[in-house]
Amino acid sequence: MKLFDVYPLYDVTPVRAEGVYVYDDQDTRYLDLYGGHAVISIGHSHPHYVKSVQDQLEKIGFYSNAIQNPIQQELATAIGTQSCLNEYQLFLCSSGAEAIENALKMASFHTGKKRVLAFNGAFHGRTSAAVAVTDNEKITAPLNQQQAVCFLPFNDTAALAQELQKGDVCAVIFEPIQGVGGLDMPTEAFVLEMERLCQQYQACLIADEVQSGFSRSGTFFAFQNTSIKPHIVTMAKGMGNGFPVGGILIHPDLKAEYGLLGTTFGGNHLACRAALAVLDVLEQEKLQEHAQKMAVYFNEKAQNIPQAKVKGRGLMLGLEFDFEVGPLRRRLIEEKKIFTGGSSNKKVLRILPPLTVQPQHFDTFFNALHDLL
Ligand SMILES: Cc1ncc(COP(=O)(O)O)c(C=O)c1O
Repeated sequence: MKLFDVYPLYDVTPVRAEGVYVYDDQDTRYLDLYGGHAVISIGHSHPHYVKSVQDQLEKIGFYSNAIQNPIQQELATAIGTQSCLNEYQLFLCSSGAEAIENALKMASFHTGKKRVLAFNGAFHGRTSAAVAVTDNEKITAPLNQQQAVCFLPFNDTAALAQELQKGDVCAVIFEPIQGVGGLDMPTEAFVLEMERLCQQYQACLIADEVQSGFSRSGTFFAFQNTSIKPHIVTMAKGMGNGFPVGGILIHPDLKAEYGLLGTTFGGNHLACRAALAVLDVLEQEKLQEHAQKMAVYFNEKAQNIPQAKVKGRGLMLGLEFDFEVGPLRRRLIEEKKIFTGGSSNKKVLRILPPLTVQPQHFDTFFNALHDLL
């Protein structure tokens, strides 16, 4: 049987990985400054993570959400403590798009309304409602176009107020730092206005932290460099360090009811154990503070590359050039053995390393960049 051919692939076959390195089938070592789309948070094959998942697998890997699973509560408590959002409620699922679907659905249940406001350049996933609030016509099928969505520019308070005044909006969804879109961010003033206007017009504010959450940005969630309290926060990617796990945090104003949300795989024993191991390592190795320090180091080094402008925050970074970076990215992989990411802004090279990355890894990257430029 053939694979459905939807991914343009680089000619690299990773077979093992450790820390910030990935090794291919010829045992060639690659520096991973992409973390497989911002997924690897605590480093590849972290020993505590491997042992936790192995031990759990030997006990029980899965049972459905029809039984008691105390590991879910353990995970909720740990997320509450590390994020300082103890008052929120946790619903677990298995991917970023699924987190978005559930977030939008909750907003619609809660408000009784159905129109969503999203932003230019947004990426929220590929499933039904998630792709409808994603700003990319190419990946939106006719089926997805039945959702009521309006895209706005960041930082245009008047446009936002005008749409909300119509009274039919259930949610405003935003990425505190855009990922796929290329590291653009709303201003703090606009984020505060979004919260105020959502309250005024009874709409839910959803912070999509699928990519920026779990300490990548230098705070537990990227929105936490402002004072807002979104109604719903979505998370996935770095949460499982490669294990498929996602979730939403739901403000206490939104009430649960049996049957409102549900999933077969979400919150299974193995997924919870993987996420708990990630939280252990984030805390023990102080990776949030480390991400902040490494961002300072990256910015300093980038001063020596005058062709590039740094975007993003923490270890969710981009370098914006005045040319399209596709060929550069290929040469970084093929000639320098360094993984980096692209974005829908073709001039932005994305840097999303494991949060354990060290100064010498950025030295290697900047030396390589210097050679190639
Ligand atoms: C901000 C954001 N939201 C949602 C998603 C969708 O996540 P997933 O690919 O796990 O469905 C992504 C994926 O890149 C993302 O970057």
